[in-house]
Amino acid sequence: MTQITLYDSGLTVPLRTGAAYFNYCWLRDACPSCIDAQTRERIFDVASLPDLPRAKSAQIDGDVLVVDWQTEPQISRIPLSVLETFAARGRAEDPADLPRKLWYSDKGTNLTRVPQNAVLTDPDARAQLTRALIEDGIAIVTGMDADNDSLPRLVNAVGPITPSAEGLFFDVRVEIEPTNLAFTAGPLEMHTDLPGEEAAPGVQFLHCIENTVEGGLSLFLDGAAVAEALRAEDPEAFRLLADYKIPFYYRHDNWDYRAHQRVIETDPEGRVTGVTISQHLQDIMDLPQDLLDSYYPAFIKFLKMMQEDRFLVRFRSEAGNCVIFDNHRIVHGREGYVADSGMRHLRGCYTDRGALRSTYRVLAKQGHTGLIPEAEQLQSA
Ligand SMILES: [Fe+2]
Repeated sequence: MTQITLYDSGLTVPLRTGAAYFNYCWLRDACPSCIDAQTRERIFDVASLPDLPRAKSAQIDGDVLVVDWQTEPQISRIPLSVLETFAARGRAEDPADLPRKLWYSDKGTNLTRVPQNAVLTDPDARAQLTRALIEDGIAIVTGMDADNDSLPRLVNAVGPITPSAEGLFFDVRVEIEPTNLAFTAGPLEMHTDLPGEEAAPGVQFLHCIENTVEGGLSLFLDGAAVAEALRAEDPEAFRLLADYKIPFYYRHDNWDYRAHQRVIETDPEGRVTGVTISQHLQDIMDLPQDLLDSYYPAFIKFLKMMQEDRFLVRFRSEAGNCVIFDNHRIVHGREGYVADSGMRHLRGCYTDRGALRSTYRVLAKQGHTGLIPEAEQLQSA
């Protein structure tokens, strides 16, 4: 095994995974003594040192790296497990950093379904739900209580309610006038909600309170799956939609929201993290006109892909169910329905993706990973 080697700005330390270099400031900041045990907040400020930290000596003692600092009377004991995690991942361990599982039309029969009562009372069920929302971006809660507090009770098990311009809740309701026999509710094109907000709401809840109309099937697709298909089939179109922002809005008498969003959102590694689509809230394009010569065909191609059967899941919203989905990834819409055929009432609200992940992390740290044991999976197959 190689020895610890000290340099001007950092050191290399032999780990089980091989030797790795760590900067001295980073090591000083990673010292567990920097964190207050009570508040769990950082109580050390690296900028308070008169000089940049530098090691006088360093050694491995069991499962910790011991650093004796030249620049201050301080000895740091940093767990090797922390160094190994950062050497391997470049960031801290995160139970909520679960890869997205892209899905297609056949997902319709295989959506995670968890009863509301279980979500509220059983941490394993809550972990199953939140894990599905991170991995699949969508899940259904069944057996919703019908009272007015039913939806907030469910949302608060995942995260605090995020308000929008509409307030804490919104209602999608059509009350039928029996005299309007000719009236037909039109389809709602595939979209993500509220792209005109600086940060569109992260997780959407749609509680179906009543649905007795003919037609009106709910439509969902995995926008990340469509984006990856576009990347494979037309890389230049993908690049245009991932590189440039276009304008969206949300206007009424008392508000005027405007924001620019990338239609395909990627992380620094180039992985698709979400999509933003809404023809009914898209403002007049303000990209340079000659760029639009290539942007529009790419955009239209993506919109048309979102109507393809290979991606779409269709199902009827049943009273007592609540569909929950990642509003930055799952694109939703509705088929037209016969307006005088009954009642349709959905109640919705939002929480954010950070709250969802926070809830999952806490559950995972308590041992509730949300993984369904193989035996149960076989039974339900
Ligand atoms: Fe919507």
